[in-house]
Amino acid sequence: MVSSRHSAVFVAATAALTFTASACTESGTTPPDDVGSPPTPAEIVAAIADACPMGDPGDASARRACAEKLRDAEPLRAILGSEVVWGGHRADHPSWNPAVHHTTRFNPRVWRMMYLSQFMFTGEFTVETEGSFTAIRMKTSFRRDMDMGQYPYPLWHAPNKWAAHLDATEIVLVLRNGELVAGYRFGSDTTQPRVEHTWDGRWTWENEGVTEPRVALFTYILSPTNPHLEALNDAYRTLEEEFRSESCLDCHSPDNPEDMTPLVILAYPNQALGDRHMLVDVLEINEMPPADEEAGTPMGLDEDHRAMLLTLAKEFARVGDEALAFEGESTP
Ligand code: HEC
Repeated sequence: MVSSRHSAVFVAATAALTFTASACTESGTTPPDDVGSPPTPAEIVAAIADACPMGDPGDASARRACAEKLRDAEPLRAILGSEVVWGGHRADHPSWNPAVHHTTRFNPRVWRMMYLSQFMFTGEFTVETEGSFTAIRMKTSFRRDMDMGQYPYPLWHAPNKWAAHLDATEIVLVLRNGELVAGYRFGSDTTQPRVEHTWDGRWTWENEGVTEPRVALFTYILSPTNPHLEALNDAYRTLEEEFRSESCLDCHSPDNPEDMTPLVILAYPNQALGDRHMLVDVLEINEMPPADEEAGTPMGLDEDHRAMLLTLAKEFARVGDEALAFEGESTP
């Protein structure tokens, strides 16, 4: 039924039932005839809608349950590569190609637990193809009423960014050769309820002894039993101090003053995790910070600082690999 048309509307409920039922008869294991076959769009959407159904947009425990189910959802895991790029889909640019959109790069576990879980899904979807891209367009609604610490960072730092989340009508997953290459927030229904937040200029803040946003901490994406949790946090915090003193966070923060795409966010633990190996590469060739012609400073760091940051970055990358391997994530 899907193959005959390029764009068609489906409701995933039937697929969801079929999928759940077949998984149950095998006591939670994949039926043998499914081994190796890539998940269909219907299976992917059913898994996401089952994990994150429509409900109260302020319910933090429903969001947490959604994050945990997305973490484990096999049809979603099956399409994930080593990174996910995620962003708003520009209305003026119809292509699904991530090269023409402004995106941010994440580790796939971080993306699905922290970012995708901010949305609720009806199970309705359409499928489109554009060259080698397959776009799965899922109807969605944003969890607009959560506490501020439940969002990956203060999305309201730019009013249009927050509005784009509040008004989004679809999440689009773009696949190429069966692998997810981008996720987009799409559409704008401005009749949806408004929620006002004012940014006070801080990316992080304290709330009853917890650093906020709490979803950006490693404790949100790693199990409490993960033996590498503390070492990973220590490695990041040591590195973060150096990022600050070397002005890395002037550019590698959500406001993205240099307009880099994909954006590399180093200002939060979880967001930085996906860039741990790239960080080592960049420091090895001494490519950051970029040269500043106005200030007359050359590209890179002086040798002492470069060597120190490189040692810290290698430690972060090593412990990050171990922590993710413990969770059963592939660690490129
Ligand atoms: C003046 C702004 C600015 C500063 C300061 C800065 N960066 Fe960057 N960084 C960029 C831009 C722009 C890019 C993307 C384009 C590029 O590679 O030049 C980037 C890319 C990167 C990447 C990804 C490279 C890739 O190949 O994808 C890493 C990792 C990185 N920077 C780390 C750092 C670190 C570590 C520091 C501090 C020592 C730093 N940056 C300071 C602007 C900056």
